[in-house]
Amino acid sequence: GLGVINIPVVVHVIYNVNKPQENISDAQIASQIRILNDDFNAQNNDVSGVPAEFADLVADSDFSFSLVQTIRKSSTKTSWGTNDAMKRSSSGGSDPVDPENKLNIWVCNIGGGILGYAQFPGGSPDTDGVVVGPQFFGDEGYVQAPFDKGRTTTHEVGHWVNLRHIWGDGRCKQDDFVADTPSSDGPNYGCPSYPTVNCRSNDMTMNYMDYTDDGCMYMFSEGQKSRMRSIFASGGPRNGFIS
Ligand code: ARG
Ligand code: ZN
Ligand code: CA
Repeated sequence: GLGVINIPVVVHVIYNVNKPQENISDAQIASQIRILNDDFNAQNNDVSGVPAEFADLVADSDFSFSLVQTIRKSSTKTSWGTNDAMKRSSSGGSDPVDPENKLNIWVCNIGGGILGYAQFPGGSPDTDGVVVGPQFFGDEGYVQAPFDKGRTTTHEVGHWVNLRHIWGDGRCKQDDFVADTPSSDGPNYGCPSYPTVNCRSNDMTMNYMDYTDDGCMYMFSEGQKSRMRSIFASGGPRNGFIS
């Protein structure tokens, strides 16, 4: 097997000149790195909330995230949208650093009610990585409930390692390509009670790849673990991370 997969992380903080709070602290950044390590290794305190039905499926995915660089840049832009402008210095953003061997995270205000977005494996290195709003990054400092436990970044990094939404972005028959996540009919929001039944089974609403509040998502499944780790194997799109 691959053993622990090491993911060096570069964080680009791009803040509005008139909103110094968007220039988040090193402590806030550190809190997010800790949360990634907790969540991807089933070390999060709230994992104990997983119902018995799914307890055997809780995955320790064996990833190790480490912050290697923080880049800070001010901007006159107030929101960045989702067209990747924050990833290009030519459009006032910050170019990715060594994207074949490092996870680049841009922390900036996206706007439009969007908390974060990600690029799946196999795309252009020029835009590879994830983008997260400063209020949704980490669990201290400039954070905003109910998205103040760093789970937006956990969710977006889930996409970056090839995970789909738990409902497969479609109705019951639409698959997320993971066998052990029950079929669902659409996203769940807020903090659903258990059981939440859709498609004749109980939804895994507490999975990071649903759309629930940060405090109500606390597991990846074993099937998701295999899907995410397989892209790091020889010939896989993120094999560059394996030295
Ligand atoms: N891409 C999703 C959005 O912007 C992220 C949802 C993350 N969910 C969360 N509870 N943090 O809506
Ligand atoms: Zn998503
Ligand atoms: Ca499934």
